[in-house]
Amino acid sequence: MLITLKNILDIAESKNMAVAAFNVTSLEGILAVIEAAQEEDTPVILQFANIAHGKYIPLETIGKVMVMMADESKVPVCVHLDHGDNFDEIKRALDLGFTSVMYDGSALPFSENVANTRYVTSLANEYGASIEAELGAMGAEGDNENILGEYTDPEAAKLFVGETGIDALAASFGTVHGIYKSEPKLDFERIEKIRESTGIPVVMHGGSGISDADFRKCIDCGVRKINFYTYAAKYAGDAVRQMVESTSGNIYSHDILVSLRQSMIKTYKDAIRIFKNRQSF
Ligand code: 13P
Repeated sequence: MLITLKNILDIAESKNMAVAAFNVTSLEGILAVIEAAQEEDTPVILQFANIAHGKYIPLETIGKVMVMMADESKVPVCVHLDHGDNFDEIKRALDLGFTSVMYDGSALPFSENVANTRYVTSLANEYGASIEAELGAMGAEGDNENILGEYTDPEAAKLFVGETGIDALAASFGTVHGIYKSEPKLDFERIEKIRESTGIPVVMHGGSGISDADFRKCIDCGVRKINFYTYAAKYAGDAVRQMVESTSGNIYSHDILVSLRQSMIKTYKDAIRIFKNRQSF
């Protein structure tokens, strides 16, 4: 069943949990997300970051499959564009039937970010879709250490949400995209303040590499959507390496795909269980 981000976050709010938002880059990834969510009987978000992964598969190709598989799923699934940074890409995703889009204007001055986000909100509303936007800058993977971005200011966040009418706010409080090079130190109090000042769900980016205990604390502070990709991709790569090393005969591409998928299903189920925060459906 295909549902919007707003609706899936309402479920998360009522259960004091976070919904997993897994980035997909292949058919195997989509199949793994849906299978994991169905086995855990838990709503899930399928998302595609065209800006980062469009080089592996076109938005139009993977997008159609994401929408079709979400529609046929036994659990509620939101199909979301991650880190949309231009209006054309966002409109293409909405035309494909995505039920949610992210507009990422975090690199822009505040007023420009507000103006562009407000426009995307009106566009998404025309399609009956939801919108996530970002304020503050997300960190990035460095060579030797985590590169932290500018943390989100709770008062600026309140103004931003009031001016833009978004459904969820991607906030910066110590996470980084990619592999952590040092132990992440998250600012839990900041999450609480952002949740309180804005009144809307907080989104965590850079979920890979956060400890189970920190995930639970973030959820208790108001995180309702957790973006997660890198470690699922890495573990799947590790599984293929292991399979190749332990196989002496021919290796067929379909066996590699099965190995990738089985690994991703396990990673996704583990993550979904933690994000459920002890809730059941
Ligand atoms: P990771 O790849 O670090 O898990 O982050 C995913 C993400 O935040 C996508 O927006």
